[in-house]
Amino acid sequence: MAQKSRKTGPSGKAPLADDVDAVVRGVVEKYGGEKRAIIQILQDLQERLRWLAPETLEAAAKKLDVPPAHVYSVATFYKSFSLEPRGRHLCTVCMGTACHVRGGTAILEHFERKLGVRAGETSPNREYTLERVNCLGACALAPLAVVDGRYHGQMTETKANQLLEILTGPSE
Ligand code: FES
Repeated sequence: MAQKSRKTGPSGKAPLADDVDAVVRGVVEKYGGEKRAIIQILQDLQERLRWLAPETLEAAAKKLDVPPAHVYSVATFYKSFSLEPRGRHLCTVCMGTACHVRGGTAILEHFERKLGVRAGETSPNREYTLERVNCLGACALAPLAVVDGRYHGQMTETKANQLLEILTGPSE
């Protein structure tokens, strides 16, 4: 019979660890505990938890019964995985060639100014993460920004302002 052990840390993090454990359990079970599904599992975990924290990777390794080093190697190999905290809202600006020549740099700088973070950073209140990527495969939409998973093509500063107003509320 499997023995259940639960570590409770001294820093009041137990509820969070429990949440992570529950999410990891649910996701791994969704894929039938298949070790081969590790990439999809990590994608799902990132979608639900926003980023892949060390405790998430360790819980996944335990649940999949694989060495933690294996899970870490997958998580660090793919650029789409974030091992650092991400904000509640993810804004991505494409800086591939087509987007770059159609003004992607100005769009990225505009997002940086409006959100008060540089590309690759998360706001201190964990509300926003801004990322730059190289070609999202939708070059006809250039310049392209993605906000919380939704593609917004032919991006302009005005369009960016409208999108950000929805996220941040109107600014005076
Ligand atoms: S360069 Fe931006 S989508 Fe291809």
